[in-house]
Amino acid sequence: MTLQFIEPEIHEFNTEIQQPASYIRKVFHVDGNLTSASLALTALGVYKAWLDGEEIDPQYLLPGFTNYAARVQVQEYDLTSKLAPGAHVLSVVLGDGWYRGALGLTSVRNYYGNRVKFAATLKLCYTDHEEEIITDESWKATQDGPIVRNDLKTYEEVDMRKELTGWMDADYDDSAWHACRIGSYNGELVPHEGLPVLEQEVFDPKVLHTPDGNTVLDFGQNLAGHVCFQVTGAAGTQVKLIMGETLNSAGNFTLENLQAESFEREGALGQTLIYTLKDGPQEYRSQFLISGYRYVLLQNWPEEVKAENFRSIAVYSALTFTGNFSCSNEKINRLVQNSMWAQRSNFVDIPTDCPTRERAGWTGDISVFSETASYYTDTRQFLHKWLKDAVSMQTPQGNLPFIVPKVPLDVIPGVDATHLPYGSAGWSDAIIHVPMVLYRMYGDTEALGIVYDAASRFIDFEMNRAKEKHPLHEYKPGDHHDYILDTGFHFGEWLEPGSVMFEDVGKALSHPDAEVATAWLFHSVSEMAQMAEILGKQEDVVRFAELAEKIKAAYRIEFLTNGTVVSERQCRYVRPLSMHLLTEESAKKVSADLNKMVVDNGYKLGTGFLTTWCVLSTLADHGYVDTAYRLLENEQCPGWLYEVNKGATTTWENWLGVDEDGRVIDSHNHYAPGAAMSFLFAYTCGIQPAKPGFEEIVIRPIPGGSLTWAKAEYISVKGKIVSAWEKADGKVKFHVEIPDGVPASVILPDGTAASVTGGVHNFECA
Ligand code: BGC
Repeated sequence: MTLQFIEPEIHEFNTEIQQPASYIRKVFHVDGNLTSASLALTALGVYKAWLDGEEIDPQYLLPGFTNYAARVQVQEYDLTSKLAPGAHVLSVVLGDGWYRGALGLTSVRNYYGNRVKFAATLKLCYTDHEEEIITDESWKATQDGPIVRNDLKTYEEVDMRKELTGWMDADYDDSAWHACRIGSYNGELVPHEGLPVLEQEVFDPKVLHTPDGNTVLDFGQNLAGHVCFQVTGAAGTQVKLIMGETLNSAGNFTLENLQAESFEREGALGQTLIYTLKDGPQEYRSQFLISGYRYVLLQNWPEEVKAENFRSIAVYSALTFTGNFSCSNEKINRLVQNSMWAQRSNFVDIPTDCPTRERAGWTGDISVFSETASYYTDTRQFLHKWLKDAVSMQTPQGNLPFIVPKVPLDVIPGVDATHLPYGSAGWSDAIIHVPMVLYRMYGDTEALGIVYDAASRFIDFEMNRAKEKHPLHEYKPGDHHDYILDTGFHFGEWLEPGSVMFEDVGKALSHPDAEVATAWLFHSVSEMAQMAEILGKQEDVVRFAELAEKIKAAYRIEFLTNGTVVSERQCRYVRPLSMHLLTEESAKKVSADLNKMVVDNGYKLGTGFLTTWCVLSTLADHGYVDTAYRLLENEQCPGWLYEVNKGATTTWENWLGVDEDGRVIDSHNHYAPGAAMSFLFAYTCGIQPAKPGFEEIVIRPIPGGSLTWAKAEYISVKGKIVSAWEKADGKVKFHVEIPDGVPASVILPDGTAASVTGGVHNFECA
């Protein structure tokens, strides 16, 4: 199908200034009985479309976020049943979205282009002929509608006095509208691949009158979405709704936790809807502005603020939920819900870091969270689309991005950041790690196929980079240096308790952490050997397996002292243990040392982004189950339940999201720190794939901590799996349900093992 882009803005304008949404329409005639009618739509921007006033698709933010420099999705619809003979009209509102709207930390605009575009082709098939209606100069447009300026992240301004009554009717007088002009697009048009972004759960507010004299709505749940409100007042009254995640220590509305301390750009955060009333009662919800919030500050409200006039609606990709966990510790149950909400809030068409400050597809975040996300939900379709964007961003040299799709990163004054978002250890490796998680969880080889060539080229790039020497790195003697990765930009462990985000970046820029980078290089090369095996690329299996051995040997020389780790940082122990970089003997010593560190630290977390996700499983794998549970159940800061005690409804970016004095810090909606929740499914209840895609199941429950019972349900691609246990009368009773025809082994904590298959099975042990 051919698609021709049109530009509805034909005038010159200052691209520095936010523009109004464009309203576009086309009247067409159906001259007889159709055998079929199909419509294809896409845009560079975000659009909402109607046929004869009826919404064509309930999805938000179409055509979705892809790396527009390379590709954009096309949505297709069958309209056959909707087109009787006569006049019809297609109506479209086109906003800035990710294409030209504010992106990333500093809210840079016009990144992919500074003129929004739209394309449609309607193919009408009659019995004896066909007709194609395409976007061209016959389509009419205006910028003189109610959306005066729009953005996905910062500001939407609406003036309802400019409402275009009747503009979706075929007989509307659009003589004052102008003709669109032909535009162009050099990227690839691809069928819609993502999950639909839809309105989901709805929350009612409590009305708060805060100490500073403001009126604030508390919807009780931090989420990504929009507010739907009803209001009555005099035409011309301008109200404001400002969305935020938290109250400050004084109990007042604040955005201070979301404002990056440095590199601040005026209005970078926004999360603001400015609305001018028309006469009479009215209802509004934004098409284009999606915010991360639990609280809404209302300004200049013209009438008494009544809770029943407001709803908060979560908007996110329509994920199928597959996992549930509950146990006797209510705080852990809340933590699981918080972590799921962090996923919902950050699965808005692409996997993001947070739904507020940056909303960027940070690869490291989804890398560590992908397993947990895949217990909670079916992530395949959502992540396949995203992986294709990652691949489309590979540099000619083979480097892979650490934010997908591309967003600007001009955070360092004077530094051209065009090439910066590439190649960070633990982040760029997501393009290898995420598909391997999908393979283990779903037996999914499609994702492996999407990334394989790019991933293989990335390893070549990494090995070349490893040969370069960093001037500040002091190497130990030996000829292993070509396998130590210490050049390039790497975030490192990132945000260990007590560290400050921008100081971490500074450190990473001057002196990349070679231990982190080399370990991830080993991890990725090992996963590539597995990927090659699965895809039947035998030569590569040997190549990657040999390379992995060399990197491992180099790692041991460079980063171990007499075969063991000497460090005060927990991550230095967790990483080599979890990545199998140690001999059995040194793993014993290193894990004992890690255990001691955690105990000495009062069972408080000491890890950052890159090892928090596996610290519990690493401890349990080496026999320190009790420590793992005490860490999980620790209620002091840093700890997961500290957040729960502070009233969190999502998981925080920083362990100190709210400090003891009530000071609020950083994003309150990052899923990465909750990535360890897969432990509850895979260890506490012990549901794991013994073969990829649960072709064979292992149930190895590990009761522990204060828990007296736990239950996990997981709808695998093979069917529903249940594993529950309960402590009673000095015994533990286990209940297991296995899908029909799937072989499973159940391994109890006392070591007894049983082979079972489909059905319900009960066991007991002391
Ligand atoms: C983001 C993270 C991301 C990180 C890179 C932050 O600003 O919010 O989640 O992974 O930068 O280290």
